[in-house]
Amino acid sequence: MKRKLFVTTALPYANGSFHIGHIMEYIQADIWVRFQRMQGNTVHFVCADDAHGAPIMLKAEAEGVTPQQLVGRIGAERQKYLDGFHLGFDNWHSTDSPENTELSQDIYRKLKAAGLIYTKPVEQFYDPVKGMFLADRYIKGECPKCGAKDQYGDACENCSSVYTPTDLKNAYSTLSGAAPVLKTSEHYFFKLSDPKCVAFLREWTGGDRLQSQVANKAKEWLDGEGDKALGDWDISRDAPYFGIPIPDAPGKYFYVWLDAPVGYLASFKNYCTKKGIDFDGFLADPQTEQIHFIGKDIIYFHTLFWPAMLKFAGYKIPNNVYVHGFITVSGEKMSKSRGTGISPLRYLDIGMNPEWLRYYIAAKLNANVEDLDFNPDDFVARVNSDLVGKFVNIASRCAPFITRRFGGQLIDVELDEPSPSFVASRMKDASKEIAELYSSREYGKALRRIMELADIANRFIDTQKPWELARQQGRETKLHMVCSEGIQAFRFLAIYLAPVLPKMGEAAATFLRVEPFSWSDTQSYLPLGHAIGSYEHLMTRVEEKQLDALFDIPAAAPAKEQKKMTEPSKSGSHSHSPANSPASTPHPTSPGPAAPTAPAETISIDDFAKIDLRVAKIVRAEHVEGADKLLKLTLDIGTEQRTVFAGIKSAYDPATLEGRLAVMVVNLAPRKMKFGLSQGMILAASGDQPGTGGEGQGIYLLAPDSGAQPGMKVK
Ligand code: MSP
Ligand code: ZN
Repeated sequence: MKRKLFVTTALPYANGSFHIGHIMEYIQADIWVRFQRMQGNTVHFVCADDAHGAPIMLKAEAEGVTPQQLVGRIGAERQKYLDGFHLGFDNWHSTDSPENTELSQDIYRKLKAAGLIYTKPVEQFYDPVKGMFLADRYIKGECPKCGAKDQYGDACENCSSVYTPTDLKNAYSTLSGAAPVLKTSEHYFFKLSDPKCVAFLREWTGGDRLQSQVANKAKEWLDGEGDKALGDWDISRDAPYFGIPIPDAPGKYFYVWLDAPVGYLASFKNYCTKKGIDFDGFLADPQTEQIHFIGKDIIYFHTLFWPAMLKFAGYKIPNNVYVHGFITVSGEKMSKSRGTGISPLRYLDIGMNPEWLRYYIAAKLNANVEDLDFNPDDFVARVNSDLVGKFVNIASRCAPFITRRFGGQLIDVELDEPSPSFVASRMKDASKEIAELYSSREYGKALRRIMELADIANRFIDTQKPWELARQQGRETKLHMVCSEGIQAFRFLAIYLAPVLPKMGEAAATFLRVEPFSWSDTQSYLPLGHAIGSYEHLMTRVEEKQLDALFDIPAAAPAKEQKKMTEPSKSGSHSHSPANSPASTPHPTSPGPAAPTAPAETISIDDFAKIDLRVAKIVRAEHVEGADKLLKLTLDIGTEQRTVFAGIKSAYDPATLEGRLAVMVVNLAPRKMKFGLSQGMILAASGDQPGTGGEGQGIYLLAPDSGAQPGMKVK
């Protein structure tokens, strides 16, 4: 019985590029999907950009573009990552789409008809200058307990006391600086606490559709009492909001987390329309399985809200939600604001083989919600020893004899007297076991099993020594048999690895002169007399220097004017800054982090206050004719535009700078330069190693969080 699968990965927020965490999730799901396809099952595999919400709206505003433009720009760069890592999504769509509007509103109407929607007034902070309600993360103030300044509305970083935003003293909006006022507005709620919802969720999260850790978490939420009791879900946001309008509720929009998972269906629907597939029919079929791959941070949404929404709107409910842990790099957690130690794009740009990463991640994945670490040394060792040393080695040792001596033809080993080392049959016998491991997402175990088989094949070749047989008289048949056996074994391993290494699988099938692999191929051997093609190396070794390049920060040549224009700031933290890149766990030959220099002499607050630092928006960035190091920047500081020549050409492409926010010293005496007048300075971080001129470690512009406005004071 063939399975019918509808598979998704979490929809990434559309305000940033993919990071290694996204790629890891897609690799996990893609391996599973490819495996299912090799089984002959039907799989529709989709994803989309999660476009809505306040952060995206504010980021677009800060960049001076519409949210649609921002989302469009991010969306346009997705494909190169997907192609680059061989991620075989059938469709990539957006939650800001007609399909999603239609589906979200339909689900809402049905929930309303089922009596699960109600409204009630909610009192919330409102920014009178910005004219919008403020989510907690946009409110700061003084801690009610210890008086520490600039604390968020939930807890104090200084004394750790916990409170609500209304408890803050002298609260201010981080968007405008204005004092927020309490204002009441009608909100829409989804009645998750309704007994029928709770009963359904108990049943849905029971059974074995969820991993035990996930089921336990869900049970905890469902069983919560007192202030931990399952609350109803506030699904509305007031204008201005980038989202989907709530039907018959002027000025109200769906909270982004309502329409985000509906985006799974919207993307699938969009795909069905393009391909002439019956969307409703496919989902209505009780045979169809709906499966979501997600990370551990979004379990709540996917195991409570989402199934309940679907259930009571009369839609298909998910069969499984498969949750993975987080990837760390050299033991360091990535943060959304600081980014990550590995740039997936850089990985591709420097020509590293995407299948190395797929293999490495797969080797570390299991079916539990466990974090996994990318360790550079481990990566090199694992890929080189397993893929090149074990797997590829089998073909490279046997194929040349077959092609040179025997016209590429194999001897049917089944006809030959079975020797004790009849290895191909051992490979064949493992088919079911490996299939089960893939199917249950135990990739690490599957790959270990495959490598054990590779060891068996290599030991066989080591003991039979085809290179010696080739030199002996009258050992032709034996040589032929040994190498045929080796090729047969290699073929099984290539099939078993194909979900993880799809390009290698294609190349191996071409070399073996067979149809693209399917799992049923593991039921038989290559027949007597089958002729293989000539062997070309299937995979090269990872080189240490590639890892160095991966973690390296683009080198910048020291320059006097550069030094002046971008005085290194030691406080700078940026997505690729040495302080949080994996290079801070030095790789043997990597440059490592800048040697930290001691803080400078103490100054008074008055000294510091002399520096007028402002948020500036880069409205234009241009090359300067004849300048090696400088870019000409036009900066908007709210009240006026300024020209600054910044020594950042070695690290930044002007095209990527336009629209970005920076931090500028606006009261620096203007400086006449060869190319014109520079009216200030923008701040950037760089290393301070002796002899590097300060920039040997790269240059990193400081960037205010999104939401900051040109002209805001930095203090
Ligand atoms: N937009 C929401 C998801 C909506 S789904 C209807 C979101 N987006 S996200 O971009 O923040 O995260 C997308 C996925 O990436 C999530 O599954 C998240 O768990 C995963 N990861 C984010 N960081 C990760 C790691 N460091 N490691 C592995 N996965 C990580 O949440
Ligand atoms: Zn405090």
